[in-house]
Amino acid sequence: MKEISIKPSTVKMLLPSLKSGGKACWTPGEVRDARIGCDGKAEESVPPAVIVSRMAKGGVGKTTVIANLGSALAMMGHKVLMVDGDPQASLTGMFGVNPMDEDENIVHVGDLMHAFFSRQPVDFTAAVKPIYVGGYLDLIPADITLVNADPWLNGVLNRELLFDRMLRGNQPFFGRYDAILIDTAPATSLLTNALMLAGRELLVVAMLNGSSMKALHVLESNITEVNAAFPDLHMGIHIVANGYHGSFADCKKVLNRLAATYGPLLDENVLPLSTSFRRQDGVMDGEPSGPVLEREPSSESAASVAALARSLAARYGILLGGHPADASGGVL
Ligand SMILES: Nc1ncnc2c1ncn2[C@@H]1O[C@H](COP(=O)(O)OP(=O)(O)OP(=O)(O)O)[C@@H](O)[C@H]1O
Ligand SMILES: [Mg+2]
Repeated sequence: MKEISIKPSTVKMLLPSLKSGGKACWTPGEVRDARIGCDGKAEESVPPAVIVSRMAKGGVGKTTVIANLGSALAMMGHKVLMVDGDPQASLTGMFGVNPMDEDENIVHVGDLMHAFFSRQPVDFTAAVKPIYVGGYLDLIPADITLVNADPWLNGVLNRELLFDRMLRGNQPFFGRYDAILIDTAPATSLLTNALMLAGRELLVVAMLNGSSMKALHVLESNITEVNAAFPDLHMGIHIVANGYHGSFADCKKVLNRLAATYGPLLDENVLPLSTSFRRQDGVMDGEPSGPVLEREPSSESAASVAALARSLAARYGILLGGHPADASGGVL
């Protein structure tokens, strides 16, 4: 668990209208208090926004976006829970939790759903790995045993809505967060479907290369099927373009096609193709890991992540709500 210190220049990128008052550095809690002070908002219990990353293709930056967004929202004073929904456990590794280390005692989202389904007590708090102190950035990690979720989900009636029911039925735990960010695996699976149905507007990450348009069409047809089966959900998409580089003609071509086809569904902020993102690959390859706002707050990538976080906080209605937490992140 990390006590992070946020530079005033980073706070300014994330929250341009917040007065810094000459502070040398900030904690997420100080940002939250200052925002509540400025806006005159009291803490109130509001349901968290749920953002699920999705794309019908691997390696497009889903995990990169969720990890950076989680960190950025926490630095904006929001309380964020990230859920690693991918047995590859890239999000888990990115935050320094080794999914291969048995001493980590990983309790993943499949274990939680199984306990909830079996009407056993679900100990959500035991699953959480705190990343930033104070409950600002928490993680429900994954490991390879998450692949076992599909065989048992296969026998569960109404499995598509099981995760959504667990989320909505356990507000004393989930309600302490302002945002729940869920990272999914690239392949369609029963687990991925269940996680996907908790997000009413999927966050689609499109890498700016030739295969994005086809992958988006596949995803759109999946969503059409979901909406036919569950008409009350009204599932939609919001697209983030990732991996822009001005000197690659292909990037511009794909970005223009995305804009022409999807119009306002495409976020105006585009993440650049930047070597700085590569340093986040995590514990497995021995490279230093961590979100760009922590590691390289002055980089072009950090500025893009900050602008994207501002845009998505507004788009998904992420508030400063949640139950008040004590210093250890527990609910008072
Ligand atoms: N904007 C970027 N610039 C440079 N490298 C990037 C960028 N976005 C992602 N990457 C790199 O591309 C690789 C794939 O990214 P990531 O793991 O986030 O994709 P993913 O969609 O989650 O993959 P998977 O489908 O396997 O879960 C990683 O090595 C990551 O560091
Ligand atoms: Mg991933």
